[in-house]
Amino acid sequence: MSNLVHILAIESSCDDTSVAVLRNNEVLSNITANQAIHSSYGGVVPELASRAHDQNISTTYEAALKVADIKPDQIDAIAYTNGPGLLGSLLVGSSFAKGLSIGLSKPLIAVNHMKAHILAHFIDGQNQPELPFLCLTVSGGHTQIVLVKDIYDMEVIGQTKDDAAGEAFDKAAKMLGIPYPGGPLVDKYGKEGDPKRFTFPKANMPNFDYSFSGFKTAVLNFVRKSSDKNPDFIQNNLQDLCASIQNTIVETLFDKLILAAKAHKINQIAIAGGVSANSLLRSKLQKIGEEHSWKTFIPKFEYCTDNAAMIGITAYYDFLKGNFSDLGLVPNARLKLSVED
Ligand code: KG4
Ligand code: ZN
Repeated sequence: MSNLVHILAIESSCDDTSVAVLRNNEVLSNITANQAIHSSYGGVVPELASRAHDQNISTTYEAALKVADIKPDQIDAIAYTNGPGLLGSLLVGSSFAKGLSIGLSKPLIAVNHMKAHILAHFIDGQNQPELPFLCLTVSGGHTQIVLVKDIYDMEVIGQTKDDAAGEAFDKAAKMLGIPYPGGPLVDKYGKEGDPKRFTFPKANMPNFDYSFSGFKTAVLNFVRKSSDKNPDFIQNNLQDLCASIQNTIVETLFDKLILAAKAHKINQIAIAGGVSANSLLRSKLQKIGEEHSWKTFIPKFEYCTDNAAMIGITAYYDFLKGNFSDLGLVPNARLKLSVED
């Protein structure tokens, strides 16, 4: 048998239908169908998300094989996201994966989505963090500081007790009339604004935990009051509002990350997840990293937001260990990364 392992990976945990083909740690294709339907609702509508996955998954699968230029019988294993995520969305991807596993007689590998965000750093094997390292994983549903002791051994040492950082971006954006997902647009408008113009509260949580619900309420109250006085307030101050909101979220994230790095005496620091696409978070990581003599790791832009390549790299390591799953495994919307989670 050759040492080349071909993994077909499927990601469908939220609102992106993505299929990738990897040869060992190298990505041959990574095709994502985004679901535009949610923007008019101001957030992901679970029922519409699973229907859209259902519509997109076969064509995304065919496109991924075509771009990778491989035939189904060359695949060694089928990987899929088993959680956390929206149950209806997870069911579409897992059912499709199980169907392929039966049809092609290939083993299945169930992957934890949060672990996959972190292991996206190992794609292509270039500039990957050394173990152990800390990873700040920031997405639409999660905000975690993870101590990565080993590829197979991760511990959540801090996390949000309410809203995730991505949710804080999206909900603050919604208050400003910015369509879902607001994070990328807050980033864009914030580049032109003054980050010190408005001050919003930063929660002071114990240990390495986060909370964004007080921040969210403060933004809502401030925007409402200001708009009552001046109906054009948002329009006239959009860039400064975005810059100040973004700056508060990013500073909050770094306050705890710096403490965690000191407490655990670790200077290999990575970021991952959709919010790691944020330009301020990326530039600040470099700046703060220089100040604290950290070695910093920022994922390639295409591997920050949800994608199947990160599911594929995680499955590749499971394949090497012989960690396969069986057809009876049911997706878990609240799947944990570690017992502390
Ligand atoms: O990891 P991800 O694609 O999906 C989840 O697993 O949740 O993360 C999506 C989140 C959304 O909240 C989105 O607004 C945020 O990532 N996001 C950003 C940026 N790009 C995506 N937030 C701030 N700035 C960005 N450039
Ligand atoms: Zn994600």
